[in-house]
Amino acid sequence: MKELSLHILDIMMNSVEAGAHLVQLNLIEDLDKDLYTIEIIDDGKGMSVELVKNVLDPFVTTRTTRKVGLGLSLFQTAAQLCGGDISIESELGKGTQVRAWFIHSHIDRAPLGDITSALMAILLAENPIDLVYRHILGKKKFIFDSRDVKAELGGEIPFSHPQVRDWIMETLREGETDLKMETD
Ligand SMILES: Nc1ncnc2c1ncn2[C@@H]1O[C@H](COP(=O)(O)OP(=O)(O)OP(=O)(O)O)[C@@H](O)[C@H]1O
Ligand SMILES: [Mg+2]
Repeated sequence: MKELSLHILDIMMNSVEAGAHLVQLNLIEDLDKDLYTIEIIDDGKGMSVELVKNVLDPFVTTRTTRKVGLGLSLFQTAAQLCGGDISIESELGKGTQVRAWFIHSHIDRAPLGDITSALMAILLAENPIDLVYRHILGKKKFIFDSRDVKAELGGEIPFSHPQVRDWIMETLREGETDLKMETD
């Protein structure tokens, strides 16, 4: 995939499908260690030990509509092509943590791409879930917690309200832009 954000959306959709109430996405760009780490942590239904063992096999899926599950194995391939890998920790009834790491400066590492759209897709999903997004770049960080926005709206106005949606999108875009500018 051309953008890391597309992989991230795929993995976050797994969390949504697993019935998560909260998804945490951490992007950690450690420029000193030349490492780009992506963590997706959810409190969904989790996986059995057996499923975790086999989940990176592209022919493993609990989907009934088709036989091949690709999200995690594609993410792993992308990481491995950039001197990294993926790790999955999961516990039934507790949740799942997926971590992928890439050599930051690797020539084949895809750019992050449109992370705002990926986050909006999760925030506006049919069964909305809480989302904590942390993007750390060197010494700078940007944090967005949808629970704060929810609290501010007092539970009356949905995220899909045009003005709210536009405000969230702008907040995310600005956060990302500021992050990049400050390190340049
Ligand atoms: N966060 C998660 N919580 C619980 N189970 C998960 C989670 N992520 C993946 N799984 C399990 O692992 C399987 C494989 O996931 P993967 O994303 O690789 O493929 P898929 O979701 O089945 O299909 P695709 O991503 O190609 O649409 C899923 O079918 C699901 O059973
Ligand atoms: Mg999937």
